[in-house]
Amino acid sequence: MYRDPVESLEPLHHRPAAIRTLRVGMIGIGTVGSGTFRVLARNRADIAARAGRSIELVIVAARNLQRAAGILGEGVALTADAMQVATHPDVDVVVEVAGGTGPAREWVLAAIAHGKHVVTANKALLAVHGAEIFAAAREKGVIVAYEGAVAVSIPIIKALREGLAANRIEWVAGIINGTTNFILSKMRDEGLDFAAALAQAQALGYAEADPTFDIEGIDAAHKLTLLAANAFGMPLRFADAQVEGITALQGVDVACAEQLGYRIKLLGVARRQAAGVELRVQPVLVPATHLMAQVNGSMNAVMVKSDAAGLTMYYGAGAGSEQTASAVIADLVDVARLDGVHAARHVPHLGVHAHATNALAVVPRAAVHTSHYLRVPVHAVGQIQAVAACLAERKVPVRQVALAAERPGAGPQVLVLTGPVEQGALDLAVHALQARAEVAGAVATLRVESLEG
Ligand code: HSE
Repeated sequence: MYRDPVESLEPLHHRPAAIRTLRVGMIGIGTVGSGTFRVLARNRADIAARAGRSIELVIVAARNLQRAAGILGEGVALTADAMQVATHPDVDVVVEVAGGTGPAREWVLAAIAHGKHVVTANKALLAVHGAEIFAAAREKGVIVAYEGAVAVSIPIIKALREGLAANRIEWVAGIINGTTNFILSKMRDEGLDFAAALAQAQALGYAEADPTFDIEGIDAAHKLTLLAANAFGMPLRFADAQVEGITALQGVDVACAEQLGYRIKLLGVARRQAAGVELRVQPVLVPATHLMAQVNGSMNAVMVKSDAAGLTMYYGAGAGSEQTASAVIADLVDVARLDGVHAARHVPHLGVHAHATNALAVVPRAAVHTSHYLRVPVHAVGQIQAVAACLAERKVPVRQVALAAERPGAGPQVLVLTGPVEQGALDLAVHALQARAEVAGAVATLRVESLEG
């Protein structure tokens, strides 16, 4: 008989045929929790038909009980004690949408210890404590599902796990933070300043409780960690990711990139190399004509390059209440259907052959190989050739050199697009350039991603 290598790792945890109502306990009734409640109530019949049984919210834990009662009305028990939901005997699955990594870890581990499945949209929790949580879930034979944690409305975990199951994944790249994409779009299209654009994103419920997670690229790195684990079968390596947000990005570079035919996007990239996997979040130049450059506002998009399907791309809302609820409920439907099937299928790094790929290391920054954009302030326009020559001497392939359009109050600036070069070599060349007499100020560098095969 055929034995799946994943299933053969440990005995199956069989449960009786599940046809009764799936009883849900939810921790948190903020942006995502209230959306989940609304969509569950509104589409109750269709969701039950798809799940093969009804899904019922039986208890909710909230910090503000009065506010929660106003949202939930009658019929759902309320408690201020999240642990009561996590361990409740009448709950089959715990939906954790409170966020954070401290108490949330305790609640999720308690739920698992009590034999409950968990659905969460908490990317920080899984990126940081995922190894412990997935190991506990595997031990108990329960599912931890997290579609809502990554690019909320886009079923990208399902796409990697199911739709692209035949493929070897080469790379995954995407705009996976709605808040920063919203800010970049508002700054570019409406000339809003950074603080005003961030305030709007917060008012619309897109930003994390601590928006530093968004603007410093941390939230995107949490999501990238989960994508890489699913794509490459590597363990969750958040601590090894290179993370750069948009706070150091200068308006002048947004304008200069446009002049060269590019747009700047905060991109998460996980790319397989011979030596391991690049795992990085940073603002990069993408060609203005590329679909990725057309992803604006709080929308997200993820591209996947795989060996059989080739390039595929997924687009949808990257933040929002019902947009995240859509994914949370899809996970509940999955739990309703899969209750009884081996839970290791939901461990991200066991979704592909663990033995062959678990050793994948994260490639150090110096070994990342991409093209680059440089903006070099000089004293005189005639010094453009000296800049190009200095880079060529250091074996940096120069593809394009131009003068930036004049800006009031700014001196001449040389713009350079390089061919692919290792980051370590580029750093040395920039260091040399910086020391040249012709160079009048700090050299700005950003990576360029062609996002082609
Ligand atoms: N703060 C997150 C974002 C919410 O802006 O993408 C969705 O994960």
